[in-house]
Amino acid sequence: MSRYRSVIIGLSGIGANRPPEPEGLPIYGAVARSHTSAYHRCPDTELVAVCDLDDERRNDCLERWKDVWPDLKGYTDYREMFDVEKPDIVSVATSDHLHADMVVEAAERKIPMIVCEKPIATTLDDADRMIAAAEANGVLLSVEHSRRWHPSFLQARELIRGGELGEARTVTTEMFSQRAMLFRNGTHAIDMMIFLAQGDPAWVTAQLEDGFEHFTEYKSDGGHDPTTDPYVSAYVRFANDVRGFVNFMKVDLPGSQWTVTCDGGRIEVSDRELKVVTGGSYREWSETPYPVDQYVHQHFGGFVPEIIHVHENGGGLVSPATEARKTLELMLGMLKSHELGNSRVDFPLS
Ligand SMILES: NC(=O)c1ccc[n+]([C@@H]2O[C@H](COP(=O)([O-])OP(=O)(O)OC[C@H]3O[C@@H](n4cnc5c(N)ncnc54)[C@H](O)[C@@H]3O)[C@@H](O)[C@H]2O)c1
Repeated sequence: MSRYRSVIIGLSGIGANRPPEPEGLPIYGAVARSHTSAYHRCPDTELVAVCDLDDERRNDCLERWKDVWPDLKGYTDYREMFDVEKPDIVSVATSDHLHADMVVEAAERKIPMIVCEKPIATTLDDADRMIAAAEANGVLLSVEHSRRWHPSFLQARELIRGGELGEARTVTTEMFSQRAMLFRNGTHAIDMMIFLAQGDPAWVTAQLEDGFEHFTEYKSDGGHDPTTDPYVSAYVRFANDVRGFVNFMKVDLPGSQWTVTCDGGRIEVSDRELKVVTGGSYREWSETPYPVDQYVHQHFGGFVPEIIHVHENGGGLVSPATEARKTLELMLGMLKSHELGNSRVDFPLS
């Protein structure tokens, strides 16, 4: 018997996709890569309603999932959906600049669990009112930086915390492909750098892609067109003395990776692998693939069970809004640095 009533606002692919399912494994066979799939995976929830202004997207979603949730209802007004359905969990999967009002409305109605897509918002004012509304109303607000639930990245952080490789000194985040955009995909890469550095950015210098001299503000176009969102090269000094290097480039080679260099070795982690690199001399390094624990609920399938667990048992979220705010502030600091001729920009931003 499902216990928590969930709803979703925003039914593009990330809100409503259904992955291919191998025959005989209707629920657990494929990786969840949408909010509908994430709820589908979690037996503690039932998706009761979805909302989108776009009739086609809303109707497609209802049709696509009708075998799973035959009573699923469609709305065009999320406030009405909140009032009628009285959900326990809401997913906000609309464009970046629209998250804030929806999250604040949900928090003020005391919907106890809110999951918001990344980036948390496009301005710090919006992020602050979201965080304030969640805190004032005692509700949980988790931001969907999906690698925070990915076993390889959790294990990489455990390796750093374990201390066997010595102190972490530098974290490099690299992201390639023609979609290596600062805000769209880069949000994930920057967030993971902060996760691994385990500290607050103190200052940054940055250079954006050539031709983006006037890109002083991120207005959120949904990130669909790579020509509207630049790549970036940046240096980040963290308050805990970790040095961060950001290397994004729009090239054909696809993929991203993170390298944490510690006193006694390096950790290399990506969607492909986790390995530890140690060396006795300049000419001899050894690479050890690292075994990664697998979880029943992981990566994109992690945020729903986690927020329920924290709701029931207390404790902290792995991707709270306060962490997502750091990611947004760092990206906005990069824009500011570029605008000032690649100057050093200190945090907090004034
Ligand atoms: N976590 C990931 O890997 C990942 C991947 C893709 C997108 N995203 C994030 O997901 C979010 C959505 O991205 P997108 O590119 O699909 O956006 P989009 O703009 O293409 O789609 C957003 C949907 O929200 C609907 N919408 C807008 N205002 C609404 C309202 N008031 N009420 C109801 N519905 C409304 C639109 O009609 C549209 O269908 C963004 O924040 C994006 O950054 C995350």
